[in-house]
Amino acid sequence: MPVWDADQYLKFQRERTQPAIDLAARVRLETPERIVDVGCGPGNSTAVLANRFPQAELSGLDSSIEMLKTARQSHPEIHWFQADLASWKPEEKYDLLFSNAVLQWVPDHKAIFPRLMSFLKPHGALAVQLPAHYDSPLHRCVVEVSQLPGWHDQTAEARQALGCESCSFYYDLLSPLSEEIDLWETKYIHIMESVESILEWFRGTGLRPYLEALPDDRERARFEAELLERYQAAYPIQENGKVLFPFRRLFIVAYQTA
Ligand SMILES: C[S@@+](CC[C@H](N)C(=O)[O-])C[C@H]1O[C@@H](n2cnc3c(N)ncnc32)[C@H](O)[C@@H]1O
Repeated sequence: MPVWDADQYLKFQRERTQPAIDLAARVRLETPERIVDVGCGPGNSTAVLANRFPQAELSGLDSSIEMLKTARQSHPEIHWFQADLASWKPEEKYDLLFSNAVLQWVPDHKAIFPRLMSFLKPHGALAVQLPAHYDSPLHRCVVEVSQLPGWHDQTAEARQALGCESCSFYYDLLSPLSEEIDLWETKYIHIMESVESILEWFRGTGLRPYLEALPDDRERARFEAELLERYQAAYPIQENGKVLFPFRRLFIVAYQTA
């Protein structure tokens, strides 16, 4: 699990928050009473929930002190608490468990998803968004660079840090537990200032485990230079100098049975 830096993460706040807006919009609950944002980060996705469901009692849970500090500063009126979602067990059930761009960091989805479903009231919803970009140059290139001689062993754990299963996996897992399920994918095309901006984006999330596995800043700079070279070959520059950065995401909303 990497150390989170809220400022680095929020450099692309608009792009990172749009999937939370899209996910919250698709939740078919009229007036949920109790909502928790699981892996709330710096509070950007929780603020989306506050707008979408202003009447609800809303909390944000995260394992990172750094992220919770920023969340608390920007929205002191919301209830924030520290917990590891893999072992957390709420005292009362929820109408909505919302988790945007979090569960890819947590292994064993076969156990985690049913566990989260069990914390819902009848007809309550589990709403999840997961990056599903593992066939993209963003991911393929970092795996390739990490396997170069010298870095292969150091970064073995980093290569396992992120994960997402197939739609079919989530459907088979959740359908026996749900009265209804919505599943969809969206490929966002982010418009970036340059190829370097893609690297900058990745520094806020999936690149962190790789950089943290390296011994010093010199090695980290070498790793990033190798990666940038591959991104330059993979992401063409548009006529106006900008770069299109496609990013695919999987969305799941599962409704608990009665
Ligand atoms: C990419 S950020 C997402 C933040 C926010 N939900 C959003 O929509 O932008 C992922 C967050 O998940 C949190 N996280 C990862 N694993 C966790 C775990 N096991 N328990 C609680 N939080 C976790 C991290 O600390 C981080 O703040």
